[in-house]
Amino acid sequence: MGFGKPEPSQEPSGEVATLKLPDGQEHHIKLLRPSHGDDLFLDIRDLHARTGCFVFDPGYTCTGSCVSAITYIDGPKGVCLYRGYPVQDLCEHAQALEVAYLLLVGELPDDEQLYAFEREVKGHTLVHEKVTGLYSSFTLNSHPMAIMVAVVGALSCIYSELDCHNSAHRWLACTRLIAQLPTLACMAYRTSIGQRFIYPKAALSFAENFLYMMFANPMEEYEVSPVAVKAINTFMILHMDHEQNASTSTVRIAGSSQANPYACIAAGIASLWGPAHGGANEAVISMLREIGSADKVPQFVASVKAKVAGVRLMGFGHRVYKNYDPRARVMKSLVQEVLNDLHIKDPLLEVAHRLEEVALEDPYFVQRKLYPNVDYYSGIMLQALGIPTSMFTVMFAMSRTVGWVAQWKEMLAEGQLRIGRPRQMYVGAKRREYKRLSAAAAGTSTWDFSKFSFSQQFARKEGSGTLRSSFQVTLPTTVTR
Ligand code: CMC
Repeated sequence: MGFGKPEPSQEPSGEVATLKLPDGQEHHIKLLRPSHGDDLFLDIRDLHARTGCFVFDPGYTCTGSCVSAITYIDGPKGVCLYRGYPVQDLCEHAQALEVAYLLLVGELPDDEQLYAFEREVKGHTLVHEKVTGLYSSFTLNSHPMAIMVAVVGALSCIYSELDCHNSAHRWLACTRLIAQLPTLACMAYRTSIGQRFIYPKAALSFAENFLYMMFANPMEEYEVSPVAVKAINTFMILHMDHEQNASTSTVRIAGSSQANPYACIAAGIASLWGPAHGGANEAVISMLREIGSADKVPQFVASVKAKVAGVRLMGFGHRVYKNYDPRARVMKSLVQEVLNDLHIKDPLLEVAHRLEEVALEDPYFVQRKLYPNVDYYSGIMLQALGIPTSMFTVMFAMSRTVGWVAQWKEMLAEGQLRIGRPRQMYVGAKRREYKRLSAAAAGTSTWDFSKFSFSQQFARKEGSGTLRSSFQVTLPTTVTR
């Protein structure tokens, strides 16, 4: 089996740009052209050494951090290719593990390779019982994403003997993570509803096993619905990779220090969680529920345009796409198909359609090129399959694990690993002399900390709200959700 060596770095195109600095100094910058598409890259790797300048680009809006041969996106045209194949074609014709193989290895598998890969992945679907035991420590109302960050990170305790410079070890980590994420995800869900775990079955396919572990019940036979299998398969393919987004960049940065890959993937899960990234699928459903009905859409759109604090049209907009996200097109028709097949009429779909219609005609969204992204319709589909809202981002994480490990493997296989280490523009105090300040001189509290125990100090801060601002302490409850 091949290990998917990345394409070599692009050679300079021979073209040069000239940068003129305020002191009259000129610096010639080579231009790099990718193997596909019209993007141009200024090669500034020697900029600081030659000119003393850094570049300032918060949020990395126009910084290429690596070369990669995995996913290609053309934002203005709304194109997404996995190893050259349009993502919508893969959704139509391929199985999730076939696409996982493609992303990892670089080529689609033939029948024999696919069979061997499926067997290999299946062989890893059971998780170590030590990890299973960890779940008992989580309270019933723990968010499944919080559980995922913890348990995937904990895999690095079990699989600590890993040499990331050894390609066979890397392959093992990749296949193990792809296999175990669905099992861990379902365990997180079952913990949150207080039900016993269902172990995977060798006879089931990847998507079937996920549904079985989520929804089977020891009291009765569980029949996997073909509609749900197709939907999960497509959902997984659509979310598998999306080049250098926040979570993938997080995985790469963590991996660049040669950290354990399980810990790197836990870092990726944490990065994915926020509503600006993978958490948007959960936020879309909350938004649609809050809007409530199609006639309230204009009112909501007005508050988005007025930039009322905290109000955005969730599931709209993208850093790279300035056109309809091709994944959102697939998701939109899949939602309709799933609802039809399951004979479900979801009033949220009507709200979503109306909201999309209004936004796509409104100059605010048109001028900013804001279109639905993959998260806009996915929640309605997951809801129709019976997947609870708190699991939506876990579903994303489970699918994106394929891209994370493929990108991690690609980076390490390059063999010239440089630690990711951006620069900053410092805006703090200038150098100053140390002087001890008395509380009175500093104008701070005169409360004498030395007279109180640490827990009294904690209680005092909590009472004043200073500890509550960023998290809520939730006590275990016996109520099963
Ligand atoms: N609703 C309203 N206005 C928006 C939205 C939105 N969803 N997205 C961007 N804008 C406005 C923004 O206010 C700004 O306006 P102005 O120029 O007047 O200040 C302009 O469009 C540019 O926005 P930005 O925040 O600078 O764009 P960005 O590239 O930094 O952010 C984004 C991209 C995806 C975080 C953002 O579009 C957003 O917050 N969308 C909603 C959350 C969402 O759906 N996230 C899922 C992304 S796709 C799945 C994934 O990869 O995770």
